[in-house]
Amino acid sequence: KDKVTIHTLKRQKQAGQKICMVTAYDATFARLFDEAGADVLLIGDSLGMVVQGHDSTLPVTMDQMVYHSAMVARGTKRALVVGDMPFMSYQVSVQEAVRNAGRLVAEGNVGGVKLEGGAEFADVVSAIVRASIPVMGHLGLTPQSVHKMGGYVVQGRDEDAARKMMDDALALERAGCFSLVLEGVPLELARQITQKLTIPTIGIGAGKHCDGQVLVCYDLLGMNPDFKPKFVKRFTNLHGSITEAAGAYFSEVRAGSFPDEEHSFKGKQPVRLIPTQ
Ligand code: KIV
Ligand code: NA
Repeated sequence: KDKVTIHTLKRQKQAGQKICMVTAYDATFARLFDEAGADVLLIGDSLGMVVQGHDSTLPVTMDQMVYHSAMVARGTKRALVVGDMPFMSYQVSVQEAVRNAGRLVAEGNVGGVKLEGGAEFADVVSAIVRASIPVMGHLGLTPQSVHKMGGYVVQGRDEDAARKMMDDALALERAGCFSLVLEGVPLELARQITQKLTIPTIGIGAGKHCDGQVLVCYDLLGMNPDFKPKFVKRFTNLHGSITEAAGAYFSEVRAGSFPDEEHSFKGKQPVRLIPTQ
């Protein structure tokens, strides 16, 4: 299977083949989603919430994004690996933005970076693209702007906001983005943006007309029973499976029935725990 590149994604849009993207934060999950057929694996700064337990993405640092990106890249064979630029890694200056994007590529081994924002960041996008680093845009509900938005609120609902989002999308395409995430956007506006752009749109809470979809992996796997926004579909209930499996293990330990003979060593010969490759 050929590795997915930014060119593969553009061809998929032209051919009407939906792009499948999911977040991953470590090598094990990356291997699972890559095997399952993901086109794009995103090291989202959502890891600040689902991995670190913060209530926003704002505390995530460049060092942490590099660390998780390298893990995901090691677990991936086919998918395109994209890493999020965290809060304050690209807002201060174009120079800092290019240097930080370069770290995600050189140290994190990603094939592209993603950053939040519209026309205001066109100069940042084009400078990173000039350094031969592919950039994915991100419009709509942009979690790094939670304080400006006044919460996690669907964006682009009135005519002015919708027109601004369309202008931002076109500005990002002109600046050289290879793709654009639309998050928390009314489906009709997402349809219009998708139709207007030549680069693929990837939606989350943006309806079915986008060229692809993305979800946070812990959400689609049903890991957190207390978090279920309208746009999330749980495709399984890992919260149930995991608490059940762990509970069964604890019961057997308490009962003294694990470990049994099958899982214990006898005799004095050296034993290799894992067969050599
Ligand atoms: O951080 C993230 O997981 C994201 C996706 C939800 C698009 O940015
Ligand atoms: Na993100």
